[in-house]
Amino acid sequence: MKKTGLFITFEGIEGCGKTTQMNLLADYLKKEGVSVLKTREPGGTEIGEKIREILLNPDNKKMLKETEMLLYGASRTQHVEEIIKPALKSGKIVLCDRYSDSTLAYQGFGRDMGISFIKRACPLSLGTIQPDLTILLDLDVKTGLSRIKNRIHGNDRIEKEKIAFHNKVRKGYLQLAKASRGRIKIVRADKEIDEVHDEIKNIVAKKFSAHPELVEGLDSR
Ligand SMILES: Nc1ncnc2c1ncn2[C@@H]1O[C@H](COP(=O)(O)OP(=O)(O)O)[C@@H](O)[C@H]1O
Ligand SMILES: [Mg+2]
Repeated sequence: MKKTGLFITFEGIEGCGKTTQMNLLADYLKKEGVSVLKTREPGGTEIGEKIREILLNPDNKKMLKETEMLLYGASRTQHVEEIIKPALKSGKIVLCDRYSDSTLAYQGFGRDMGISFIKRACPLSLGTIQPDLTILLDLDVKTGLSRIKNRIHGNDRIEKEKIAFHNKVRKGYLQLAKASRGRIKIVRADKEIDEVHDEIKNIVAKKFSAHPELVEGLDSR
Protein backbone atom coordinates (compact mmCIF):
# COMPACT_ATOMS: atom_id res chain seq x y z
CA MET A 1 0.00 0.00 0.00
CA LYS A 2 1.19 3.50 -0.86
CA LYS A 3 2.32 5.31 2.26
CA THR A 4 0.77 8.71 2.82
CA GLY A 5 0.81 10.70 6.00
CA LEU A 6 -1.79 13.02 7.39
CA PHE A 7 -1.66 16.79 7.23
CA ILE A 8 -3.15 18.55 10.28
CA THR A 9 -3.20 22.34 10.65
CA PHE A 10 -3.89 24.59 13.64
CA GLU A 11 -5.70 27.86 13.07
CA GLY A 12 -7.22 30.69 15.06
CA ILE A 13 -6.56 34.23 16.24
CA GLU A 14 -3.50 35.31 18.17
CA GLY A 15 -3.27 33.79 21.63
CA CYS A 16 -5.93 31.13 21.05
CA GLY A 17 -3.44 28.37 21.89
CA LYS A 18 -2.28 27.02 18.53
CA THR A 19 1.36 26.56 19.48
CA THR A 20 0.50 25.19 22.93
CA GLN A 21 -1.96 22.66 21.52
CA MET A 22 0.20 21.64 18.58
CA ASN A 23 3.07 20.88 20.94
CA LEU A 24 0.82 18.87 23.28
CA LEU A 25 -0.60 16.86 20.40
CA ALA A 26 2.87 16.23 18.98
CA ASP A 27 4.13 14.96 22.36
CA TYR A 28 1.08 12.73 22.75
CA LEU A 29 1.39 11.26 19.26
CA LYS A 30 5.12 10.67 19.66
CA LYS A 31 4.45 8.79 22.90
CA GLU A 32 1.99 6.64 20.97
CA GLY A 33 4.80 5.81 18.56
CA VAL A 34 3.52 7.96 15.72
CA SER A 35 6.05 9.63 13.45
CA VAL A 36 5.38 13.37 13.69
CA LEU A 37 6.76 16.47 12.01
CA LYS A 38 6.03 19.85 13.62
CA THR A 39 6.29 22.97 11.52
CA ARG A 40 4.90 26.49 11.27
CA GLU A 41 3.91 29.30 8.95
CA PRO A 42 5.09 31.73 7.89
CA GLY A 43 8.46 30.02 8.03
CA GLY A 44 9.21 26.33 8.33
CA THR A 45 12.16 26.57 5.92
CA GLU A 46 15.33 28.66 5.92
CA ILE A 47 13.94 30.92 3.19
CA GLY A 48 10.52 30.97 4.82
CA GLU A 49 11.96 32.09 8.16
CA LYS A 50 13.59 35.05 6.37
CA ILE A 51 10.24 35.92 4.80
CA ARG A 52 8.65 35.58 8.24
CA GLU A 53 10.99 38.24 9.63
CA ILE A 54 9.89 40.69 6.93
CA LEU A 55 6.21 39.90 7.46
CA LEU A 56 6.20 40.25 11.23
CA ASN A 57 8.65 43.16 11.62
CA PRO A 58 6.70 46.09 13.15
CA ASP A 59 8.94 48.54 11.19
CA ASN A 60 7.38 47.43 7.89
CA LYS A 61 4.44 49.79 8.23
CA LYS A 62 4.32 50.54 4.49
CA MET A 63 3.59 46.95 3.50
CA LEU A 64 0.68 46.68 1.05
CA LYS A 65 -1.90 43.98 1.70
CA GLU A 66 -1.06 42.56 -1.74
CA THR A 67 2.63 42.36 -0.80
CA GLU A 68 1.66 40.66 2.43
CA MET A 69 -0.44 38.05 0.61
CA LEU A 70 2.34 37.33 -1.88
CA LEU A 71 4.98 36.98 0.84
CA TYR A 72 2.82 34.55 2.78
CA GLY A 73 2.28 32.71 -0.50
CA ALA A 74 6.00 32.62 -1.23
CA SER A 75 6.76 31.24 2.21
CA ARG A 76 3.99 28.64 1.86
CA THR A 77 5.04 27.47 -1.58
CA GLN A 78 8.59 26.91 -0.39
CA HIS A 79 7.32 25.16 2.72
CA VAL A 80 4.97 22.77 0.92
CA GLU A 81 7.53 21.64 -1.62
CA GLU A 82 10.59 21.53 0.63
CA ILE A 83 9.12 20.17 3.86
CA ILE A 84 5.45 19.17 3.90
CA LYS A 85 5.13 17.04 0.76
CA PRO A 86 8.30 14.99 1.42
CA ALA A 87 7.25 14.39 5.04
CA LEU A 88 3.78 13.24 4.01
CA LYS A 89 5.28 11.02 1.34
CA SER A 90 7.36 9.28 3.97
CA GLY A 91 4.22 8.61 6.01
CA LYS A 92 4.62 11.26 8.71
CA ILE A 93 1.85 13.08 10.51
CA VAL A 94 2.57 16.73 9.72
CA LEU A 95 1.36 19.25 12.29
CA CYS A 96 1.46 22.81 11.04
CA ASP A 97 0.94 25.97 13.10
CA ARG A 98 -1.12 28.08 10.61
CA TYR A 99 -1.60 27.36 6.91
CA SER A 100 -3.85 28.51 4.06
CA ASP A 101 -6.88 29.30 6.23
CA SER A 102 -4.72 31.99 7.85
CA THR A 103 -4.34 33.70 4.47
CA LEU A 104 -8.09 33.49 3.87
CA ALA A 105 -8.94 34.72 7.37
CA TYR A 106 -6.31 37.49 7.70
CA GLN A 107 -5.93 38.77 4.13
CA GLY A 108 -9.32 37.66 2.82
CA PHE A 109 -11.47 38.79 5.75
CA GLY A 110 -9.20 40.87 8.02
CA ARG A 111 -7.79 42.98 5.18
CA ASP A 112 -11.03 42.79 3.17
CA MET A 113 -9.37 41.39 0.06
CA GLY A 114 -12.11 38.80 -0.29
CA ILE A 115 -11.53 35.07 -0.51
CA SER A 116 -12.71 34.82 -4.11
CA PHE A 117 -10.18 37.50 -5.11
CA ILE A 118 -7.33 35.60 -3.42
CA LYS A 119 -8.38 32.31 -4.96
CA ARG A 120 -8.51 33.90 -8.41
CA ALA A 121 -5.48 36.19 -8.20
CA CYS A 122 -3.06 33.94 -6.41
CA PRO A 123 -4.09 30.31 -5.92
CA LEU A 124 -0.47 29.45 -5.07
CA SER A 125 -0.78 31.57 -1.95
CA LEU A 126 -3.14 28.89 -0.61
CA GLY A 127 -0.67 26.06 -1.07
CA THR A 128 -0.88 23.17 -3.50
CA ILE A 129 -2.14 20.69 -0.93
CA GLN A 130 -5.12 20.82 1.40
CA PRO A 131 -4.96 19.78 5.04
CA ASP A 132 -6.72 16.52 5.90
CA LEU A 133 -7.85 18.10 9.14
CA THR A 134 -7.83 21.64 10.51
CA ILE A 135 -8.28 22.42 14.19
CA LEU A 136 -9.80 25.89 14.55
CA LEU A 137 -9.28 27.14 18.10
CA ASP A 138 -12.05 29.65 18.61
CA LEU A 139 -11.61 32.33 21.24
CA ASP A 140 -12.85 35.87 21.81
CA VAL A 141 -10.33 38.47 20.73
CA LYS A 142 -9.92 40.21 24.07
CA THR A 143 -9.03 36.97 25.84
CA GLY A 144 -6.64 36.00 23.04
CA LEU A 145 -4.83 39.32 23.07
CA SER A 146 -4.67 39.42 26.86
CA ARG A 147 -2.98 36.01 26.83
CA ILE A 148 -0.17 37.29 24.61
CA LYS A 149 0.32 40.83 25.85
CA ASN A 150 3.40 39.82 27.82
CA ARG A 151 5.25 38.10 25.00
CA ILE A 152 8.90 38.75 25.68
CA HIS A 153 9.95 40.40 22.41
CA GLY A 154 7.01 42.74 22.15
CA ASN A 155 4.10 42.15 19.83
CA ASP A 156 4.67 41.70 16.12
CA ARG A 157 3.15 43.62 13.19
CA ILE A 158 -0.01 41.53 12.95
CA GLU A 159 -0.54 41.23 16.68
CA LYS A 160 -0.47 45.05 16.92
CA GLU A 161 -3.55 45.39 14.69
CA LYS A 162 -6.70 46.82 16.25
CA ILE A 163 -9.33 44.71 17.99
CA ALA A 164 -11.73 45.30 15.07
CA PHE A 165 -9.26 43.66 12.69
CA HIS A 166 -8.92 40.57 14.88
CA ASN A 167 -12.69 40.37 15.20
CA LYS A 168 -13.01 40.29 11.42
CA VAL A 169 -10.40 37.53 11.34
CA ARG A 170 -12.26 35.50 13.96
CA LYS A 171 -15.56 35.84 12.09
CA GLY A 172 -13.77 34.94 8.87
CA TYR A 173 -12.44 31.75 10.40
CA LEU A 174 -15.92 30.77 11.58
CA GLN A 175 -17.29 31.38 8.10
CA LEU A 176 -14.55 29.22 6.58
CA ALA A 177 -15.37 26.46 9.07
CA LYS A 178 -19.02 26.59 8.09
CA ALA A 179 -18.08 26.16 4.45
CA SER A 180 -15.69 23.24 5.15
CA ARG A 181 -17.37 21.31 7.94
CA GLY A 182 -15.72 18.04 6.98
CA ARG A 183 -12.20 19.41 7.25
CA ILE A 184 -12.32 22.28 9.75
CA LYS A 185 -13.28 21.34 13.30
CA ILE A 186 -14.06 24.15 15.71
CA VAL A 187 -12.69 23.67 19.22
CA ARG A 188 -13.61 26.10 22.03
CA ALA A 189 -10.32 27.54 23.24
CA ASP A 190 -11.60 29.24 26.41
CA LYS A 191 -11.31 26.05 28.47
CA GLU A 192 -8.38 24.72 30.46
CA ILE A 193 -5.37 23.70 28.36
CA ASP A 194 -5.87 20.00 29.22
CA GLU A 195 -9.55 20.05 28.32
CA VAL A 196 -8.79 21.60 24.95
CA HIS A 197 -6.06 18.99 24.43
CA ASP A 198 -8.48 16.13 25.22
CA GLU A 199 -10.97 17.44 22.70
CA ILE A 200 -8.30 17.71 20.02
CA LYS A 201 -7.08 14.17 20.80
CA ASN A 202 -10.62 12.87 20.27
CA ILE A 203 -11.00 14.65 16.95
CA VAL A 204 -7.63 13.36 15.77
CA ALA A 205 -8.40 9.82 16.95
CA LYS A 206 -11.58 9.85 14.87
CA LYS A 207 -9.63 10.99 11.85
CA PHE A 208 -7.07 8.27 12.48
CA SER A 209 -9.73 5.59 12.65
CA ALA A 210 -10.03 6.14 8.90
CA HIS A 211 -6.26 5.58 8.58
CA PRO A 212 -5.49 2.57 10.80
CA GLU A 213 -2.16 1.95 9.09
CA LEU A 214 -0.82 5.18 10.61
CA VAL A 215 -1.57 4.56 14.24
CA GLU A 216 -2.18 1.00 15.16
CA GLY A 217 -2.12 1.57 18.90
CA LEU A 218 -4.11 4.77 19.03
CA ASP A 219 -7.43 4.66 20.81
CA SER A 220 -10.29 5.91 18.62
CA ARG A 221 -13.17 6.54 20.98
N1 LIG B 1 -6.57 27.17 27.29
C1 LIG B 1 -5.75 28.12 27.77
N2 LIG B 1 -6.06 28.79 28.88
C2 LIG B 1 -5.24 29.75 29.36
N3 LIG B 1 -4.06 30.11 28.80
C3 LIG B 1 -3.70 29.47 27.67
C4 LIG B 1 -4.52 28.45 27.10
N4 LIG B 1 -3.91 28.00 25.98
C5 LIG B 1 -2.77 28.70 25.87
N5 LIG B 1 -2.62 29.57 26.88
C6 LIG B 1 -1.53 30.52 27.09
O1 LIG B 1 -1.79 31.64 26.25
C7 LIG B 1 -0.60 32.09 25.63
C8 LIG B 1 -0.74 32.01 24.13
O2 LIG B 1 -0.78 30.64 23.73
P1 LIG B 1 -0.14 30.19 22.34
O3 LIG B 1 -0.23 28.70 22.28
O4 LIG B 1 1.20 30.81 22.17
O5 LIG B 1 -1.16 30.85 21.31
P2 LIG B 1 -1.02 31.07 19.74
O6 LIG B 1 0.08 30.18 19.27
O7 LIG B 1 -2.35 30.69 19.19
O8 LIG B 1 -0.75 32.54 19.55
C9 LIG B 1 0.53 31.23 26.19
O9 LIG B 1 1.11 31.92 27.27
C10 LIG B 1 -0.19 29.97 26.66
O10 LIG B 1 0.48 29.36 27.73
MG1 LIG C 1 1.84 30.59 18.23
